[in-house]
Amino acid sequence: MFITFEGIDGSGKSTHAKMLCEELRRRGLEVVETKEPTPGRIGSFIRENIEHGSKERWMEVEALLFAADRFEHVKGLVEPSLKEGKIVVSDRYIHSSLAYQGGGGLELDWINTLNRFAPMPDLAILLDVNVETVFKRISGRRKTNFEERFYLEKVRELYLKFVEEGGLVKIDAERPLKEVHTEILLKVEKVLKTV
Ligand code: TYD
Repeated sequence: MFITFEGIDGSGKSTHAKMLCEELRRRGLEVVETKEPTPGRIGSFIRENIEHGSKERWMEVEALLFAADRFEHVKGLVEPSLKEGKIVVSDRYIHSSLAYQGGGGLELDWINTLNRFAPMPDLAILLDVNVETVFKRISGRRKTNFEERFYLEKVRELYLKFVEEGGLVKIDAERPLKEVHTEILLKVEKVLKTV
């Protein structure tokens, strides 16, 4: 079973991915916990670029880099682990490219074509929070600006569009951690029965 977590920065994906993995392991299941951008060579390059790169960034280049990182991720870890019957939980995957690079103005069809090699998750969870809420959470950690806020609004809108189209399952992540965790478990259990 392949599960992915999606959401805007600060929505709690990493925390919930970790909590889910711990719970599944406690139940005796074999789980591979992973993330994108990966810690691999392309993922590290992307991260370095986001943090220290020049301001002038081409969305097309970003989409190509994320897809290249994903290719190594899928071939090197995701597919082999699924073949071995393990549960793979990824913090971000293809919907991040669709929402973030799509929100940056790229055509969704083109992003989909670039990612055609990538198997679709059995369950893709959107941890949905208001951009306002996230800004309150992250403004303590680092500087934020209006442009970023506008961008994240567009990213969230796209995520919500994918929910309506049925590709993503939305969970309201404004609620207390435990409540959100319980709802995630319910969704996972439901899909586990069908795979
Ligand atoms: P993030 O999950 O925030 O990593 P970390 O918490 O380790 O810093 O991901 C970094 C950024 O990459 C985030 O703003 C979303 C962006 N991103 C894309 O724009 N497209 C993608 O395909 C992926 C996987 C991430």
